[in-house]
Amino acid sequence: MAYPDVFEKLVSLAKRRGFIFQSSEIYGGTGSVWDYGPLGVELKNNVKARWWNAMVRQRDDVEGLDAAILMHPKVWEASGHVAGFSDPMIDCKTCKARFRADQLQGAPCPRKPSKHPGEHADCLLTEPRQFNLMFKTFMGPVEDSASVVYLRPETAQGIFVNFLNVQQATRQKVPFGIAQIGKAFRNEITPGNFTFRTREFEQMEMQFFVEPGSDMEWFERWKAARLEWHYALGLAPDRLQFHQHGETELAHYARAAFDIEFDFGGTLGFQEIEGVHNRSDFDLSQHQTVSGKRLEYVDQAANKRYLPYVIETSVGADRVTLAILVNAYREETVPGEEEGRTVMGLHPTLAPITTGVFPLTKKDGMPEKAEKLAAELRKEFPVFYDDAGAIGRRYRRQDEAGTPFGITIDQNTMANDTVTIRTRDDMQQIQLPITQVADRIRAYLRSDVSTAEVKHFSPV
Ligand code: GAP
Repeated sequence: MAYPDVFEKLVSLAKRRGFIFQSSEIYGGTGSVWDYGPLGVELKNNVKARWWNAMVRQRDDVEGLDAAILMHPKVWEASGHVAGFSDPMIDCKTCKARFRADQLQGAPCPRKPSKHPGEHADCLLTEPRQFNLMFKTFMGPVEDSASVVYLRPETAQGIFVNFLNVQQATRQKVPFGIAQIGKAFRNEITPGNFTFRTREFEQMEMQFFVEPGSDMEWFERWKAARLEWHYALGLAPDRLQFHQHGETELAHYARAAFDIEFDFGGTLGFQEIEGVHNRSDFDLSQHQTVSGKRLEYVDQAANKRYLPYVIETSVGADRVTLAILVNAYREETVPGEEEGRTVMGLHPTLAPITTGVFPLTKKDGMPEKAEKLAAELRKEFPVFYDDAGAIGRRYRRQDEAGTPFGITIDQNTMANDTVTIRTRDDMQQIQLPITQVADRIRAYLRSDVSTAEVKHFSPV
């Protein structure tokens, strides 16, 4: 099935509802940098918590880490980023625009967009030149070459240089992994597609250290585990696929690599959201050579020492959050209503707000009862209390926010302590004793399916 391009509508909804704003918007924006609003930060935090839970908390063979963004500049020499983390660029001397050499044929000429760079008679293109993607800054008061530091372009190196610290502190034995979530920065030449490719983003990376020879077996295991994780977020299975890197695509450190791709719809189609890489002993061996410190693992039981191979799983928190938003966006007609509705069909466990609480009217003791229920539920779930406007409008506002449940306090609540609970996906409304609301929401959140598929709400 061909998925439509929803980017334009999504960018507008994301701003209107407070998922994502353009950075420094009042100054005209910063190139490809985005801010997460009240709903967006909750959604992204839920994604990161899901990853941390699956990769660290649920496993006894992976440890957590939070390494600093600024690292010793030698790290980036050893890792190969100073020499090799670059794109070949071509400049136009006439209009001063810069293009990626490998994307020239897809780029419009700024002076005549119907032509490609180089096709206009006045175009004067340079030969391709390497342009390093790392952001440079200076540490300390003096701005000279001795004080240059880089904003990390990947979080992985913080893990490699801490490999022995973590192993010795935790007494883990190979095979084991180290995981972290953190910001990374790349001076991308062709950023774009909303938060898909940005210059500041967050990565969730895990390096799994294994004995050489067992690496391809672990590579396959991690590939399978990571794909499962994306399914569990509610991404449609037919929108996910693997893409194997051919010889020419492999990064400088990779022995083998697969991307997990998501179908973003329209012309963008399938694009990488996660990389699973076999980095061999490339990084540890480089750091051992450049630092002069032995980084070998000592296997006392087998009486041998070696540099472990590394299987890396690397997923962008922003990119997977974007995939979740694209996957969730839908417009529907509503039987009996002229206006359709826009729904963010987010998985209930990821939704920024779990339930809305709505007093039907602002009188007859309904607000007091509703506030009491909201306060009780808030101890466990994110709750949005809304008493403004017609109830239908309040439902629609929460549909757009992706809120899976809505609880209405009405005349029945006042008469017999039952509430109406509405599920976002099928818009079914049923009555339930107020005392059972928290249990039912808990049951929903435990089940791994969309609200429309949950049939266990029985009317009282
Ligand atoms: N340590 C390996 C590494 O960084 P990568 O394939 O360059 O590998 C991994 O990046 C993931 O980080 C990508 O799959 C993507 O989700 C995310 N990512 C990379 N560059 C990005 C950018 N400019 N904007 C947003 N996310 C990005």
